[in-house]
Amino acid sequence: MNYFHYRDGRLYCEDVSVADLADRYGTPLYVYSETAIAGNLGALERAFAEVDPLVCYSVKANSNLGILRSMAARGSGFDVVSGGGLYRVGLAGGSAGRTVFAGVGKTDHEIAEGLTAGVLMFNVESEAELEAIARVAATLDKVAPVALRVNPDVDPKTHRYISTGKKESKFGMDIERALAAARRIVTIKSLSMIGLHMHIGSQITTVEPYAGAVAKGVELVNELRAMGHPIAWYNMGGGFGINYKGREAKDVSEFARVIVPGVKSLGCRLALEPGRSIVGNAGVLVSRVIYTKESGEKRFVIQDAAMNDLIRPSLYESFHKIWPVTPPSGVPTEPVDFESEIPGTSHWDVVGPVCESGDFLAKDRSLPRLDRGDLLATFSAGAYGMVMASNYNTRPRAAEILVEGSRARVVRRRETLADLVQPELEALQS
Ligand code: LLP
Repeated sequence: MNYFHYRDGRLYCEDVSVADLADRYGTPLYVYSETAIAGNLGALERAFAEVDPLVCYSVKANSNLGILRSMAARGSGFDVVSGGGLYRVGLAGGSAGRTVFAGVGKTDHEIAEGLTAGVLMFNVESEAELEAIARVAATLDKVAPVALRVNPDVDPKTHRYISTGKKESKFGMDIERALAAARRIVTIKSLSMIGLHMHIGSQITTVEPYAGAVAKGVELVNELRAMGHPIAWYNMGGGFGINYKGREAKDVSEFARVIVPGVKSLGCRLALEPGRSIVGNAGVLVSRVIYTKESGEKRFVIQDAAMNDLIRPSLYESFHKIWPVTPPSGVPTEPVDFESEIPGTSHWDVVGPVCESGDFLAKDRSLPRLDRGDLLATFSAGAYGMVMASNYNTRPRAAEILVEGSRARVVRRRETLADLVQPELEALQS
């Protein structure tokens, strides 16, 4: 179900007009659909129901407190990769006991925070980290629940920057090292190995990499149990791809089809760490055209969202659909199939005001004629959008709106210039 749709020629998020939101709250503006987010969470829980799943929403994808609060109220678990993520989960009323603490560089301080909060488990990425967790847990007189993050050496066939399951990646341990580490842990009293963790990459659109990973994981869990480890959790990480361009994504039930049987055969509970598949298509970035210009053979639309608001196109050359919030007559009222020519359009580079050639949201994109003041929607911007935003060029970050039905709430006000300079002014004044 798409909660962003055109009604009478105008874009709506659920029952709220996006143009009205832009007029009221300004641009650039992130707009999210709470019903879409809840629906995606529910779809995952249903697809994996046979293995009693704990969906640990990956906070890094969109860590807005309004969204986290909504997820917590729906019983979601969380996946955090920093003390900061754990802090947010606490503020949002999330349960630490349903939170997994991942990340390749946890500090002693963060480990202590996780232990004190009582996280469900730490996903451990190296022998050195295991030692640190064991030491910190012993000092606090606690037993740390851990899952080894194993690198199954499968190719997820995604962008190289978001591929993590190959053995040359910085993440996890290869199977041989994991086994050696597991042999040592048996004797360490402050550690209890209760799970196995894998995360092979992000925006994965085929099921084979998961099938390959689970096959290796099942074998490994059996070996770990034979050593005496009480493995109760199989954590398959996240990575389920979404539709950015057309219909490239798989339904989560197809991933379930290859993941569930292996996990079930082990009698483990399944943990998942989806981020993008929960929030990605539940958000758009709304911007307003400042100028249009032509230079050489090219046409540019300069609008007020830039690489500092959404860096994915600049960083990964990723494709986001872009279409007017109120399309002019003569063009489709949906951003249709971008593979073919769209009637009534010409090619534009959609760029922002930042002083970098890499500052673009789209290149050579079919768009209808645009004028100063027109609104554009950049779709599929709910994941890795606002969380990767910066203040480059001294640009205050966008406001965020969470919509449910006909209700729209500001869940982050627009930053002011005063917000930006405050830490520096404080330092200068002291
Ligand atoms: N678990 C672990 C250990 C991860 O590293 C990640 C994402 C996730 C779960 C959530 O993955 P998801 O379900 O969202 O694919 N900034 C990039 C994506 C980076 C992903 C980092 N890790 C992008 O904009 O495409």
